[in-house]
Order: sequence, then C-alpha cells, then structure tokens
Amino acid sequence: MPENILVAVAWPYASANIHVGNITGAYLPADIFARYHRLKGNRVIMVSGSDSHGTPVTVRADAEGKDPETVYKEFHARFLELFQKAGLAYDLFTSTHTENHFKVSQSIFLALQKSGYLYRETQQQWYSPDEGRFLPDRYVEGTCYICGYENARGDQCDNCGNLLDANQLINPRSKIGGGTPELRETEHFFFDLGKLQPAIIDFLRARKAYWRPNVVRQSLGWIEAEGLRGSPITRDLDWGIPIPLEGWEGKCLYVWFEAVIGYLSAAVEWAQLNGQPDAWHDWWYNPDAKTYYFIGKDNIPFHAIRWPAQLIGAGEWFAKIFEGLEGKRLTLPYDVPANEFMNLEGRKISGSRNWVVDGLDFLQRYDPDPLRYYLTTNMPETRDSDWDWGEFVARNNNELVATWGNLANRVLSFAHKHWDGHVPEPGSLRPADQALLAAIEAGFETVGSLIERVRLRAALQEAMRLAGEVNKYLDQAAPWFEIKSDKNQAAKSVYTALRAIDSLKTLLSPFLPFTSERLHTFLGYDAPLFGQQTVESVQDALGEHTALRYLPAGASGQWQPSQLQPGIPIQKPAPLFKKLDPEVAEQERARLGE
Ligand code: MF3
Ligand code: ZN
Repeated sequence: MPENILVAVAWPYASANIHVGNITGAYLPADIFARYHRLKGNRVIMVSGSDSHGTPVTVRADAEGKDPETVYKEFHARFLELFQKAGLAYDLFTSTHTENHFKVSQSIFLALQKSGYLYRETQQQWYSPDEGRFLPDRYVEGTCYICGYENARGDQCDNCGNLLDANQLINPRSKIGGGTPELRETEHFFFDLGKLQPAIIDFLRARKAYWRPNVVRQSLGWIEAEGLRGSPITRDLDWGIPIPLEGWEGKCLYVWFEAVIGYLSAAVEWAQLNGQPDAWHDWWYNPDAKTYYFIGKDNIPFHAIRWPAQLIGAGEWFAKIFEGLEGKRLTLPYDVPANEFMNLEGRKISGSRNWVVDGLDFLQRYDPDPLRYYLTTNMPETRDSDWDWGEFVARNNNELVATWGNLANRVLSFAHKHWDGHVPEPGSLRPADQALLAAIEAGFETVGSLIERVRLRAALQEAMRLAGEVNKYLDQAAPWFEIKSDKNQAAKSVYTALRAIDSLKTLLSPFLPFTSERLHTFLGYDAPLFGQQTVESVQDALGEHTALRYLPAGASGQWQPSQLQPGIPIQKPAPLFKKLDPEVAEQERARLGE
C-alpha cells in the first residue's frame, strides 16, 4: 500500500536571498526525502512558499523605499528561479500572500476562538505620533537599560546581547522617522498555550523515542522546565492577514501564527490547482498519513510546540467547515527532523557582511549536483557544520568525478564502443558478478531505510561506498584487458558493471537528480526518473501570485535494482561531472567579506 507523505518545508522570508546554509538546513533534505518517496511509489506532496508578511519584509521595504508587496514579489521570483535551478522539486511552492492562505488562516484563528483557546489582553506598545502608528519592537531604538549602550534595538541589545523588553528602553526613538514614541495601550489576542500544555506533552511524549535529541530537548525538555504560557498572536501592523472580526481594523495576525498554517493552506491550494479540491484530505484528514517538517533549529519551538497546539486547538471547529469531516482531526506532525546550522569557512554566515555563498550566485558558476552532493556530505544533521571551499573542490574531484562519474563514463563508453552501442550479452554470470550485484541490490534496503530515518549523510555515504565496490570489482575483472583474450569474459564483466551502475544511478538519484537523469538516458531509458517543474500564475481576490509546481512523471515504483536487459541500445555517454581547478577555492575565498 502506498503511503501518504506530506513533506512540509520551512517557508523562507521573502526579504533575503537564500544561501547554502538555508538550502542544506531545510530545502535540500526535504527534496531528497520527497524524491526518494516518489521513487518508492508513495503519494508525496512537498509544500512551502514565501513567508511574505511581518516585520522582516516591512523593514526591508522601508529601507529600500518600496512597498512590502513589491519586496515580497522580488524575492519570491528569485526563490522560484533558484528552486528550479537547484532541482528543489516542490509539488507547490506558493506564498502566504494569497486569498486561499488568508481564508485558511482566518478560519484557524476563528476555530481557536470558538474553542476557547484565545483571550484578549491590553498591552503597552510604543506608538509614534509622527507616523500615526504603533511601532513593532524592531522599529524602536534607544539606550539599553542593562548596559547603557545607546543604539540598542527594541528586541535585543547588540552590545550586551541581552533580549530586551522594548517598553523599558531609555530615550526611545522611532527607526523610521527618528521621532520620540510614547507608550500607548493596545489590545491583542493571546493564544492560551497553557490550556493546551497537557495535550502537547502527550503529543511530544508519543514521539520522543524516534525524534532527534535536539528537537526533543528544545520542545518537551523546554516545556517540562518552563511550562507554557499564553502569548500574543496579533500585531499592530497593516502588512499581513487582517483579523477576521469587526473593530480590529489595522491589526494583523502575527506572522509566525499564520506562516505555519501555510503547510495546511498550501495543500489546499495544491489540490485546487490539480482540479481535485478535496485531495488534501488524504494528508490532513488521514490518520495513516505521515507529515515531516524540514526546518532549521531556530524554528523548533514554532513547529514542535506551537503549530501542533494550533492544530489540536482548532481541529474540532475547523473540521466543521467542511462537509463530511465533522469529528475528524487534523494530522499532527509525525517528525520534525530539524537541522543545525552550516557555517562558512569557520564563521557564521551573514548576508549583510558578504560572508555567504548565495544559492543563485553559486549556480552561475557551478552545476547543481555538485552543490547538492557537497551539501549532503556536510549536512548539519547532528551538529553545526562548515562550508569549506577547499573541501568542496576536493569532494567534487575525488568523489563525484573520480569515484562515480569516471566509473559511469568509462564503463558506458567501453560498452558502447566494443558492443556496437548495445548492452553486452553476458551468458551465465560468475560468482564474483553475482556477489557484486547482490551487494548493490542490498543497497536499496540500506540506503532506503537511512533516507526514511532522515539520515541523509549516511545514506549518501552508503551509496558512494557501493560505487567504490564497483570500482574494486572492475580493478579485479579488468575487462579492458580481458577483451583482448576473451570477449565473452569481458562481456560478463561489462554487463555486470552496467547493471550495477544502473542501480547506483537510482540509489543516487534523490541526491543527484540532474546527472542521474542524464545517465538514465545514456542507459537507454525513454521514461524519465522524475517529473517537471513549472511556474504558473494564479489569479485571486488579492491579485496575482506565481506558484512553482511539480508535475510527476508517469512511472513510479522505480526504487528497485536494475533489470538491464542484454542487447538493448545504449547511448554514447558524455562526462557527468567536471573536474575543478584547485585554485577555485582561493578565488572563491577572495570573494568573501566586505
Ligand atoms: N520564515 C521563517 C524562517 O525563515 C519561518 C518559516 S517556517 C514557517 O525562519 F512555517 F513558519 F513559515
Ligand atoms: Zn545592552
């Protein structure tokens, strides 16, 4: 029975370019996982979109003198370009600035309210009389009340590092106009997380045995130590989703409250775009569906505590909106395999300090599969990792080119040349041939189960170890010499190696989709391994947004050992990877910094 798997991927803020740390932190592991499950024949939807609202976007817009919608659209367009070029195959990559997402988010808000999980409270907030608006914490600067530093931000002091209570800043000033703000009262909705604490603890305890230790520590461990308290889920801001109640004009849903709802709303939009508007139920109202959230460690509390709390709290009323779903419950996260961070050449990545490897910029000079390969070997699954340009070049040359690319190219070229463009007819296989094929066949189980447990570094390492086995086999069998004395013996070796390479192509394809697809064609297949990415323009009440979609290939269930038939035609291959000049590392390092 095929499984239903939702691959939920962190929504990038539409206010900064995406760098390699973001890619290896969330988007690439999600894509590898989704591609694998599609090959297995499971029903996968991988969804995400641009996180378009909130202060990250408005701060950027103010700085550039643009409106937030323009800023969001510029970054969104760049995300779509990057994901296509990097082969990050979202079934749907949309945006939070869509009519559908507004509706779903407002429904979740109202459902929480009806179930008694929201309360109202009046707070004090800085208000700028000059600009006639409330100022979010990031918009206020002043003197730190802890260390006396004069340019502290409302939320944090860059001098002493403490998180601040913006209302206690000394000599506050507005970051927009420079004027002096005053504290005014403002009313907000709060999410009563304390009430849901027992349910959240049950939810986490049921998953603790198989979650990553870091995620358990930052969720269950944290609740057991601190307990949950209510927190505001609305803001005095006009760029965002309006509160769906009268008398609340000028306020919005808090960006973190609504962005996570995107995992649900994007599935709804995906179903609509597919012309099967109820299809999202197969993931969201199916107790057997599994949902995986690919995020960075800074997002753990929002995904392992708050989002499940929203789903549990809103579940009953939300289901009542839809015919036939009364009494059913929204699917809770199955796993949250959060990654740690990737640094760059020993320092924290920083776009503003130009200490960064930008995704689109990288792909102007290098191919996507070497990027995916290096990022997977260095994925920060259990601890922070480091992008090192020298290591990138070395792994490209010694592993991708030497171990894998040359192997595939050498054997295919040799077969093509000596067997007239066809897979050789081997007759009966020898014990050594059978042993190699059995070892490779076992890889479908070992590599597959590592991917299922989201241990992608180990999975790739295992696949590459098997490529090394084929090289050893060929060193022994040496068909290049065999052919001079006994072409029949050489045919057995070449056939065996081709079949092993064909299998390895599949094992490596979630990691290296572009080159695996090319190799697949060289090996004579017509039907592709993977489907196509396309960009579509969607019209709704808020205007227009562009969506990246994945149109699956017809074939499924391709995660299995090669059945390569003797005698079928193959193509003359071309090299899959390029060797890089070791000088590249120094050239790239010279680009870094201010
Ligand atoms: N935009 C936020 C970040 O990049 C969060 C994303 S995940 C979401 O950290 F689901 F909340 F959108
Ligand atoms: Zn300070």
